[in-house]
Amino acid sequence: MTDAGAQEADVVVIGGGAAGLMCAHVAGARGLRVRVLERANRVGKKILMSGGGRCNFTNTGTTPANFLSANPHFCKSALARYTPWQFLELVERHGIAWHEKEPGQLFCDESSKLIVRMLLDECARAGVRIDTRCEIGAVDIGDDGRFRVAAGPGRIVAPKLVMASGGLSIPSMGASGFGYELARRFGHALRPTRAGLVPLTLSGKHRERLADLSGVSLPVAAGCNGQVFRGAMLVTHRGISGPAILQISSYWQPGDALQLDLLPDTDVPALLARWQAGRPAAELKTLLAELLPRRFAQRLCEVWLPSRPMRQYTPAQLHRIAALLQAWPLVASGTEGYRTAEVTLGGVATDAVSSSTFESRRVPGLHFVGEVLDITGWLGGYNFQWAWASGHAAGMAV
Ligand code: FDA
Repeated sequence: MTDAGAQEADVVVIGGGAAGLMCAHVAGARGLRVRVLERANRVGKKILMSGGGRCNFTNTGTTPANFLSANPHFCKSALARYTPWQFLELVERHGIAWHEKEPGQLFCDESSKLIVRMLLDECARAGVRIDTRCEIGAVDIGDDGRFRVAAGPGRIVAPKLVMASGGLSIPSMGASGFGYELARRFGHALRPTRAGLVPLTLSGKHRERLADLSGVSLPVAAGCNGQVFRGAMLVTHRGISGPAILQISSYWQPGDALQLDLLPDTDVPALLARWQAGRPAAELKTLLAELLPRRFAQRLCEVWLPSRPMRQYTPAQLHRIAALLQAWPLVASGTEGYRTAEVTLGGVATDAVSSSTFESRRVPGLHFVGEVLDITGWLGGYNFQWAWASGHAAGMAV
């Protein structure tokens, strides 16, 4: 079938984010005519804002265990075929200086702009054409099996279509539910979506008790639903945040209580016994303030742990104090939502997508990559590694 006036391409990639740009330049380098259609005024906005402007572009410790999905096996093949070391090689080839912050977490020394520049240079070298501010209308399949994409005033026809439109987080950066809608229209099931790597909110008495401690930060081990993350917790005006809380937020569901170990590197029963024997006249709140932020220790003792001189506690009371310090229960009322979430959990169900080519099993030629799929990484560079790995696999397969 001819399509008068339509532009022809071999591959149309919808979304010029991490996964889309990776897929585009890999496919372009294979000699294919690739078009990237990006709705925002520029590509890679999330890359630009990531890692505090320095982009935590990968994690050298990436394993499938660092991802949440209804199918934990799905990510294995792509992660094994495009490793953090391969992305690092690309980064080094472009002369981008980097450093390791926390173990495994690699950041740019200068700016995340350099990662976007690198991807754009690779796309330019591979002859990829990128259109920004591109509103996509109808996407249909013609009688010849090719996709017809209404893009702005024109139409593009291509045998391959890659959905790389990401998740719902940070709508002001261009996020949209477009990929999910298109997947559903083409017969794909969706796993329920929710905000992940997101601050948690508190309400009622939980909020009242902590609100004036906003800005206080302490190391914790945050647990929920069988998962535990160590790191800082930050009290905010509306609830709690910080790396440990962002991590556990992806495992938290409304109604779940969090268990917070407030002294994660300490044998708390032994510590309390030592205090009772060695500093019997000292009050619990004074001693706790030596290990925890002072205002936080005071609040704990005002609300949860009656503070007395150590000698006055019975063994049963010490046992209760230790239990509370090691599993302080906090009930979050919700999350800050997509406005501040780093990622979207859930998305296009992976069972109808090939884990090696990322092609739909329902619609030949249709591929899904990156965050639009029901694969979500932990905090720490895993989500970009997923975007690179899935984008690379699809770029090699289209
Ligand atoms: P991504 O969101 O990057 O790209 C999707 C693109 O599609 C966007 O450019 C969007 O505008 C476009 N689009 C959407 N709808 C469209 C439509 N209808 N038509 C055309 N285009 C459309 N991860 C990590 O590993 N290390 C880090 O340091 C950080 N830091 C970080 C900070 C913040 C503030 C956020 C919000 C997120 C992170 N992340 C992160 C997560 C990471 O940014 C994210 O997982 C990847 O960008 C996902 O890559 P994708 O390409 O799948 O989506």
